[in-house]
Amino acid sequence: MSAPGNVAAPGGRRGYAIAHLPGDGIGPEVTKVARDCVDEAAAAHGFVIEWRTYPLGARHFLATGEVLPDTVLDELRKADAILLGAVGSPEVPPGVLERGLLLRLRAELDLYVNLRPSKLRPGVPGAVGRHQLADLDFVIVRENTEGLYAGAGGTVHRGTAFENATEESLNTRAGVERCVRYAAALARRRRGRLTLVHKTNVLVHAGDLWRRVAGEVAAEAGIPLDYAHVDAACLYLVDDPGRFDVIVTDNLFGDILSDLGAALTGGLGVAPSGNLNPDRTSPSVFEPVHGSAPDIAGTGRANPAGAVLSAALMLDHLGEQDAAADLDAAVSQVLGAGAPGTTSGWEGALRQALAARAGAR
Ligand code: IPM
Ligand code: MN
Repeated sequence: MSAPGNVAAPGGRRGYAIAHLPGDGIGPEVTKVARDCVDEAAAAHGFVIEWRTYPLGARHFLATGEVLPDTVLDELRKADAILLGAVGSPEVPPGVLERGLLLRLRAELDLYVNLRPSKLRPGVPGAVGRHQLADLDFVIVRENTEGLYAGAGGTVHRGTAFENATEESLNTRAGVERCVRYAAALARRRRGRLTLVHKTNVLVHAGDLWRRVAGEVAAEAGIPLDYAHVDAACLYLVDDPGRFDVIVTDNLFGDILSDLGAALTGGLGVAPSGNLNPDRTSPSVFEPVHGSAPDIAGTGRANPAGAVLSAALMLDHLGEQDAAADLDAAVSQVLGAGAPGTTSGWEGALRQALAARAGAR
């Protein structure tokens, strides 16, 4: 990976190489808006983006049989960051793209944190009517390379009455520790509340490791550690979400809880994510939490907010905090004025908001 900012840019400006994986369905539609917003913010903040587009996903797989060729992966490694739309289509069997592309990227690039912020913004009807804005502002730090996603397990005697399928959860001390370390540092920069979510009363082996390691890391970071079982955490997230600031949890629990977080804060359309390599040994991948939504692809109704907020996380990771804040504020402003019903309406409103912010400086 090249050091962030080392793409040659005219006039000595900072420059970043971003790999763009538009993917399938609404992926290209929402990442087009995100790209335009990033370019607009880059111009306002004095840096440039060199976009490199790669056709991966269901369409590419159906046309070529390729999921993630090693040559493309080698190219992706050279980028400063990766912006992904969404991949998938009902025509591709389950698991092919999930394991072969998304999880492979997470493993190959060692994207060990999946950062999933949930924030209720003005103008957005939360799913639970009585939630106040201040109640709902938390971040899920999901361990992103281990647990039940590690790919350990198998099937024997397939198709017989004795068929046996196992799926093992892999948890390493080093893997848990680095994830909790990231979460603890994040909690220190936020409201200082860290909650471990697991199921230690039943998953006694993995739970014991997570609990001990999280306790050690939190003590070292000098912050208190709360704990909730995952079932109770679902109840609290609906009933009393204000108790959460940073949630750290394993891969599958984080996957499930982050959809709940999205539902509470306006739906999958507005939920961003960053698959982070905090050590910066390879580029991080930023993607909206939603999928390719084939049912609305091409209708012009895709909501690009999740993609734009993911691009904001990307700019923040690259060190462009002011540009990131502009994108985040632009999304809030557009939502606050009543979300447009079309992708092009979103694009126009976002660019207007960004231009106004640039003009005000
Ligand atoms: C997500 C998705 C993925 C996951 C799937 C598509 C592999 O649900 O990013 O939340 O389970 O991590
Ligand atoms: Mn998911």
